[in-house]
Amino acid sequence: NCAQAQGHVEGSGNRVLHLLFLKGVRMTDKSANTMWGGRFAAGPDAIMEAINASIGFDQRMASQDIAGSRAHAAMLGATGILDDKDVETIREGLLTVLSEIEGDTFAFSTALEDIHMNVEARLKALIGEPAGRLHTGRSRNDQVATDFKLWVRDQLDAADGALLSLIAALLDQAEAGADWVMPGFTHLQTAQPVTWGHHMMAYVEMFGRDLSRVRDARARMNECPLGAAALAGTSFPIDREMTAQALGFDRPAANSLDAVSDRDFALEFLGTASICAMHLSRFAEELVIWSSAQFRFVILSDRFSTGSSIMPQKKNPDAAELIRAKVGRIFGAQTALMMVMKGLPLTYSKDMQEDKEQVFDAADNWMLALAAMDGMVRDMTANRDALAAAAGSGFSTATDLADWLVRVLGLPFRDAHHVTGTLVALAEAEGCDLPDLTLDQMKTAHGGITDGVYDVLTVQNSVASRMSYGGTAPAQVRAQIARWKEILS
Ligand code: ARG
Repeated sequence: NCAQAQGHVEGSGNRVLHLLFLKGVRMTDKSANTMWGGRFAAGPDAIMEAINASIGFDQRMASQDIAGSRAHAAMLGATGILDDKDVETIREGLLTVLSEIEGDTFAFSTALEDIHMNVEARLKALIGEPAGRLHTGRSRNDQVATDFKLWVRDQLDAADGALLSLIAALLDQAEAGADWVMPGFTHLQTAQPVTWGHHMMAYVEMFGRDLSRVRDARARMNECPLGAAALAGTSFPIDREMTAQALGFDRPAANSLDAVSDRDFALEFLGTASICAMHLSRFAEELVIWSSAQFRFVILSDRFSTGSSIMPQKKNPDAAELIRAKVGRIFGAQTALMMVMKGLPLTYSKDMQEDKEQVFDAADNWMLALAAMDGMVRDMTANRDALAAAAGSGFSTATDLADWLVRVLGLPFRDAHHVTGTLVALAEAEGCDLPDLTLDQMKTAHGGITDGVYDVLTVQNSVASRMSYGGTAPAQVRAQIARWKEILS
């Protein structure tokens, strides 16, 4: 009842109610909270309710909350803490609540603060007294830590799948163009010729490390907080191994104080997401540059581009630009949660309720960025001719010339570097590329130069010669593609 709930704070109260309205929550009950209101004579002020409630966002953890409650109830039955009849009633009631939430018929209440109390209150309305026994030997503190961990774990699993798919798409691109030449850059200046496949495989390495970070984080976080109760454990003879196992955890968390106050798993999730988003943004930036009229290295598909409302010729790489930007909010979430957690005394403090929105937003945007990059990579066409034309420009085989002077004429590398520099200056003055210089012109820089030098000046020979492990030679690139296929199979 909005008019009533407005209370004494006129202007700001209105704003709060407007905020709640935007968040889709309704003010409901103004009497003392039925879950913890025993010592309270009156219900909270509207503003108190607004700052306190998390139901507007933590309803996203409804299925995790019910899974946790089901595991807890089954354990209470197995240990004889509750009788089997109550446990069965609770189990059926929880399933009904879940179907109501999934069917969108559940009425979430701000007065009931969060998902935990919303579920429990509905359970009470459905099954009566046994609902009140569900909270035996647990607290919202271990409950929220468990729910949130389950939610984050689901996201890590989704990221695992998304990364595997993106890596597969990159491997396809690499395989198709294992020997297509293109310029390799340092300082975004043409450096040495490389292969398209090699460049794609660089991202496979990055996303491969992201995948391994996802898996490390999942393994480390997979300890169950449930049963830590408020902070100290419980005097009830609970079986924490049983609930841990039921929820797919490897073991129960070993310290109850840590279990309810730890949010490392959320921070590690955000850290992993941030690094991956940084990789995505670097690739996105390359796609923006490569798809420009000046580069024309790639053609992005219509499906992942947009047009301009005023310039009919335009095809904009919006998906790549947005992926490039996502790292900002994802890394922002990581920073925000670090700041929430720093300096908090053990154990639970309400500050920690500020963990979820950051993680939810980061997870949504990370998944979206991964999916969009996956689609772009699958759809994009490398412009083989443009890549090849650019590969030879900018004196990109100058290092090959210097290496030839060392290998064939026995020059010290520093001298070879100097001789090559002279020839680059000459070619620049002549307005031609290195292979266009005549042998006589070559000899002005060093008398010993022979015809054989022209063999190393082509980009094809340049890349083929880079056979060192991890080098850009097509044979090396194919070996790396095979290695990754083996890893992923
Ligand atoms: N909504 C709370 C959160 O998200 C749940 C835990 C509340 N515990 C408490 N003692 N107030 O953190």
